[in-house]
Amino acid sequence: MEGVIDADTRALLSEDGALDWCVTEFVRVVDARLPPRVFLRHCPELASAGSAGPLTPSATPVTLQLLGSDPRALAANAAQAIDQGATRLDLNFGCPAKTVNRHDGGASLLRAPERVYAVVDAVAGVGQRHGASVNAKLRLGFDDKQLALACAQAAEAGGAGELVVHARTRREGYRPPAHWEWIARIRAEVSVPVVANGDIWSLEDYWKARTLSGCRDVMLGRGMLADPWLARRIRHWLETGGERLAPTPWPARSALLIRYAEAKRGAGMPEKVIVSLLKQWLNIMRGRDPGAAARFMALRRETALAPFVAGLSDLGSKSDSVNSGPSARASSTMAT
Ligand SMILES: Cc1cc2nc3c(=O)[nH]c(=O)nc-3n(C[C@H](O)[C@H](O)[C@H](O)COP(=O)(O)O)c2cc1C
Repeated sequence: MEGVIDADTRALLSEDGALDWCVTEFVRVVDARLPPRVFLRHCPELASAGSAGPLTPSATPVTLQLLGSDPRALAANAAQAIDQGATRLDLNFGCPAKTVNRHDGGASLLRAPERVYAVVDAVAGVGQRHGASVNAKLRLGFDDKQLALACAQAAEAGGAGELVVHARTRREGYRPPAHWEWIARIRAEVSVPVVANGDIWSLEDYWKARTLSGCRDVMLGRGMLADPWLARRIRHWLETGGERLAPTPWPARSALLIRYAEAKRGAGMPEKVIVSLLKQWLNIMRGRDPGAAARFMALRRETALAPFVAGLSDLGSKSDSVNSGPSARASSTMAT
């Protein structure tokens, strides 16, 4: 997720081993072959990639995402990324940002399935020659869903090995609801695996998305930032046949945010930028956690790092969740 999920975030969110894979922010391709440093900036994990490709410190595979509309340029950059160690590539057909769409990238290609095909075909060809898999990340359309099935079929015909579908059009932005039932319609038209994405914030959302889409796998976006233990929660529930992990208490959440700040400070990021990244993360967390909500309100005008970090750990214990920890188990179960 652009501006949100960088290598430090990937390292933290994947460290409990509950994620099967994660994806970089998109590398934007216009018409030139980008220098190696651009790929390294988006995916520092490439620096130590072995035969399994780039991995987070906990050995979770990292997929490198490309965004663009020029098949030749994308193919050349896919070759560059593979040369640097990427083994899994993803093509972005979902970005709704106006600047990206104005330059004919992201979701704008969903207006023309033949262009989706051309892009996937060019990159999948490179992937096949070099042993890298190529996936496509789609929305249900640009303005409406008329071409949802045609675009998915085009991506499959072009050689995408897997489709991740964010169950909304570009026009629908991030507004609920996500139309998970449309993913089932797509699944009926393609034979490659389809991964459901959009608005999975909780165990209940996960199960609803799975049920309505028929997908075995889901992709977690903002939900993983709101509750960094969501993947673990889902995995535990599946592995135990319905046992739920207790909500994660604020101290564990704040410890994670502080470790993130420390990683950024260690990398030399300016303190004001670190504070704004922490606010961005807290802002996503606060809808789901009273401890985060209290800190967000108390710290929203703070711009210096030290008091911000102190505030994350010290303030407002009344509103904190009081469960015993991320691995604590509650007795309630949810029928499968
Ligand atoms: C701030 C932000 C940045 C995003 N950046 C990307 C991106 O770089 N590549 C991508 O495929 N999707 C990106 N997305 C979309 C998410 O991957 C996901 O499809 C979308 O947020 C819906 O899932 P969610 O409801 O679980 O967040 C971004 C979303 C947000 C909110």
